[in-house]
Amino acid sequence: MHELYTVLAEYYDTIYRRRAERVRDEIDFMEELFRKEAEREVKKILDLACGTGIPTLELARRGYNVVGLDLHEEMLTVARRKAEREGLSVEFIQGDALESDFEEEFDAITMFFSSITYFDDSTIHELFNSVKRGLKPGGLFIADFPCWHYGGSSPVVWDERKGDERLIITDWREVEPAFQKLRFKRLVQIVKPDGSVRAFMVDDELNIYTPREMRLLAGKHFRKVKIYGDGHELRPNDRRYWLVAVK
Ligand SMILES: C[S@@+](CC[C@H](N)C(=O)[O-])C[C@H]1O[C@@H](n2cnc3c(N)ncnc32)[C@H](O)[C@@H]1O
Repeated sequence: MHELYTVLAEYYDTIYRRRAERVRDEIDFMEELFRKEAEREVKKILDLACGTGIPTLELARRGYNVVGLDLHEEMLTVARRKAEREGLSVEFIQGDALESDFEEEFDAITMFFSSITYFDDSTIHELFNSVKRGLKPGGLFIADFPCWHYGGSSPVVWDERKGDERLIITDWREVEPAFQKLRFKRLVQIVKPDGSVRAFMVDDELNIYTPREMRLLAGKHFRKVKIYGDGHELRPNDRRYWLVAVK
């Protein structure tokens, strides 16, 4: 997984351009969840696994006091540069989501774009403990995760542009139902105007959770847990879910 968040960090926003364009809708929905579910006013937010800050910066634009935390310094370098360019004040911290030592500091903790699925059956409990420690009483934890159908048909190919470079991205996705793993191999080809190509092969592995499993796991740690669909109450054919948990 690491190449995507290290050597390719500068290309992350380009690879996920279409997702970056959706972020305002995601934060609209999150604000709706704040209004519906939070038991305290949300002012201060910790965005865990914040990456290059796509959602973190949108939260800051809307006036929240935001801290972003990520494992990879290369992702944070991109995030800090974008914040500076926009004149947004966001603190970006390098660290492991499992080891953050915040104590009752945040009204909400967020974790966007399937980052929660990097945690498996054992580490997800450590994650929930760490999140709970960082939240004030009545604070909210919100994280989105994909439906296992996400594997879809393979390969998935798309292309994007970054300046005068062209990126061709090819994903081979495979669901292992017995182990509930989504594995993917991703080939990222960066083509320069002179035709020269740099190619990177990236492996990744995500954990698949059904809405019921996530509700049961989070229910061991949080007072109230609800699973939403993508932008609304859970529906039978949702392809993305939102965990909303109250400390
Ligand atoms: C799919 S990206 C999502 C980034 C960002 N949340 C977004 O919405 O664009 C996953 C991120 O999780 C980070 N990550 C993975 N494991 C982590 C951990 N244990 N602690 C903190 N960040 C982690 C990676 O460095 C990467 O930036």
